[in-house]
Amino acid sequence: MIIINDIIVSVSLLASDMTKMAEEIRRCENAGVDWIHYDVMDGHFVEQISYGTQILKSVRKCTDRPLDVHLMVERPDQQAEYFAEAGADIIDIHIESPCDTAACLKRIREMGKSPALAIKPKTPIEEAYPYLPLCDMVLVMTVEPGYGGQGFIAEMTAKVKSLREYADNNGFPSLNIQVDGGINEKTGAQAKRAGANVFVAGTGLFNANDMKAVNSALKGTL
Ligand code: DX5
Ligand code: ZN
Repeated sequence: MIIINDIIVSVSLLASDMTKMAEEIRRCENAGVDWIHYDVMDGHFVEQISYGTQILKSVRKCTDRPLDVHLMVERPDQQAEYFAEAGADIIDIHIESPCDTAACLKRIREMGKSPALAIKPKTPIEEAYPYLPLCDMVLVMTVEPGYGGQGFIAEMTAKVKSLREYADNNGFPSLNIQVDGGINEKTGAQAKRAGANVFVAGTGLFNANDMKAVNSALKGTL
């Protein structure tokens, strides 16, 4: 299901008009986005609360695109199963969440879903390396998780570069590296040069005059 090492654009629904989610998803599909990024916030791991499994089930009915569920929650080990049942294809859990990260990634794989490991800006990227055999993707946060619409932290490109080099040199050439937060045509290009291949954009796509043009720019086809 994951197209390894392809360039993927994933739209974050957090920036959509949630009163007309189905229309918003159609608009994203028409613009050519590859995946739908679904940000789950629990009010503990991050301050805000976003949405949970009920809304995900409705989203699942609206689209066949892969659903990439970013769990910004205290206990992803207690939540992953519910999101898998609700229609997630990819489940991103945070290395900083206080649970058994390896066991949780393995469980996601056992459920037939694609496991991904997310890492906050202040956590050293080396902490992700032991988990590479257990995941299809690493999500390098390029803002502090918790809010859409923040500015890209430029220093995160160094983390992406280190991760890509490590992955290439240690038997993980097909690892997907996702960047999330403040991604637009310009910052997406910086992240791509560093080795990222999956680009999450919320406001960058939804606030654009021409969503299709932004999608094409991120894909590198403009
Ligand atoms: C931040 C979320 C992001 C966010 C991206 O906590 O994980 O996915 O919605 O939004 P933009 O693209 O607006 O920074
Ligand atoms: Zn996210």
